[in-house]
Amino acid sequence: MTDKTAITLNINGKDYAIEVEPRRTLADAIREDCGQTGTHIGCEHGVCGACTVIVDGAPVRSCLMFAAQADGKTIRTVEGLADGDRLHPMQQAFMDNHGLQCGFCTPGFLMLAVGVLEREPNISDEDLIDVLSSNLCRCTGYQNIIKSVRAAAQEMRK
Ligand code: FES
Ligand code: FES
Repeated sequence: MTDKTAITLNINGKDYAIEVEPRRTLADAIREDCGQTGTHIGCEHGVCGACTVIVDGAPVRSCLMFAAQADGKTIRTVEGLADGDRLHPMQQAFMDNHGLQCGFCTPGFLMLAVGVLEREPNISDEDLIDVLSSNLCRCTGYQNIIKSVRAAAQEMRK
């Protein structure tokens, strides 16, 4: 039996005191130990970006990080984007511009785009598309995803 370590994950402002094996990924801990299933898991090896969350202000692929590495850090997931009933501008833009089809990739795209635009609000369009190209959408809805993120970027700059 592997020894478990006691850690605290701060997700969307709430502390979750959990015990995890050292090899437990952050993605699994967020979903299974903390019950926040909005973060999706696709490839489990850093390729698809479905599991993207924001850790200490930076977008991170949570399947590539151990939960223990996130101990004491500030984690934001898709569940924390809306302000009560008010959607985050990025969520609203995805809704208005049909930026999702099955929705599996959506939490990852939302967190990636929000994380990048918060750090770099005036990022060039070329760089923005470059960043978005790191996440995969199996429904191939890229045109509308890009349209949504461009619209939200304008809104977030206001
Ligand atoms: S599940 Fe993490 S990158 Fe695909
Ligand atoms: S909307 Fe289905 S995978 Fe992207």
